[in-house]
Parts: sequence; structure tokens; C-alpha cells
Amino acid sequence: MSFTVAIDGPAAAGKGTISRAVAAHFGMQHLDTGLLYRAVGARVDAGEDAVTAARTLTPNDLARSDLRTPAAAAAASRIATRPEVREALVEFQRSFARLPQGAVLDGRDICTVICPDAEVKLYVTASPEIRAERRYAELVEKGLDVTRQSVLEDVLARDARDMGRADAPLVAAPDATVLDTSSMSIAQAVAAAIDAVTRVKTPGA
Ligand code: CDP
Repeated sequence: MSFTVAIDGPAAAGKGTISRAVAAHFGMQHLDTGLLYRAVGARVDAGEDAVTAARTLTPNDLARSDLRTPAAAAAASRIATRPEVREALVEFQRSFARLPQGAVLDGRDICTVICPDAEVKLYVTASPEIRAERRYAELVEKGLDVTRQSVLEDVLARDARDMGRADAPLVAAPDATVLDTSSMSIAQAVAAAIDAVTRVKTPGA
């Protein structure tokens, strides 16, 4: 029997860290759906058509080492506004969600569009300034040449595009548990997410 944990939220809210920790804790598979959009964006930046790229993504595309750069994030959020691109990625994500050992998927439209029947739905967020500060630290750690101001501007531009698009905009599903991580440590945010899953998996525990 499958069990799906769907996690949405804006850029750099902590979805990735929380998703990986939840998946490891419960022995589930994890899919960072942002990587799919980043990989399509990278192929478009290299001159390909977005829909063709989305329909022919390979594991090698997802293994590229340059998908975590600000340029790849911006390219992802541009192609992610296109309904045909999103449509081409739906079935892969839904099949992943049905894996028998259970699955954690994180992205922007997992609770609302991809897995509306997920057993657990979380919306992970934090203030734009805090998200920008976290992303800045992460990029500096990777050796990328960025400024605090440019990272904040990227985060705000991506929020506007992701929340403002017509198709599958980023929004908290009405039945999602909202986790505002602004004043939480990573450990606290992970514990809160594990707790939310435990309450559904083992009621009364
Ligand atoms: O890691 P971060 O939250 O910064 O970004 P990401 O999850 O890798 O997503 C990169 C971009 O892909 C987002 O800004 C969205 O535009 C797009 N995306 C989407 O539209 N739907 C998803 N399920 C996941 C990502």
C-alpha cells in the first residue's frame, strides 16, 4: 500500500531538508520535484524546446551538477509557468508517489495538483528575508559568487512568478498543515514534520 507525504512551499523554506529527513525516518523514497523543472530549464537554456525537454527527461539530466545554481532556479521558474511542460511531468510524479514503500514529494503543486489525495500534506514556509539568508549561506558554502541582495531579489522574483502563474500556482492547500520555519531550527522543523506524519501513520501514538 502506498503512503504519500506531499510537501509544498516557496523557495528555500526548508522543504528539501525536511523532505529528506522525513523520508529517511520512515524508510520512504524522496523526490525533489524542483529538480525536474531545473533540468528542463537547463536544457532550454542550452537551446532546446521546453516541451520536448520535459517529455524526454532522463536520469542523466537530473544528475547534472549545475542544477542548484541561481541561474538554473530562475530558468526553472520561467519554464514552470507553461502548462504543457507541467503536464508532461505529471505522470512521472504520480507514479513515484505510488511507490509501495511510501514516498515524500516536495515542490510547489504537490498537495494541490499532483497528489491531492496524499495522506499527509504540509506547507513549509518562512519569511522571504529568512529564506534568502538561508539560501545565501547555502550558495556561499558551495563557492558561488552571490550577494545577499541578489539572492533576496531572486527569491522575491521567483515567489512572484510561482504564486502568480495561472497554472498550478503556489498556494497552501486548504487541508495542508502549515509549518512556518522562520523561528525554528532545522531540528525543530524536522521534528514537527515527523510528528505530523506520525499522527496519520499511527493514530494514537
Ligand atoms: O529549492 P527551491 O525551493 O529554491 O526550488 P525548487 O524546489 O528546486 O524549484 C525550482 C523552481 O521550479 C520553482 O521556483 C518553481 O518555479 C518550479 N517548480 C514548480 O513549478 N513545481 C514544482 N512542483 C517544483 C518546482
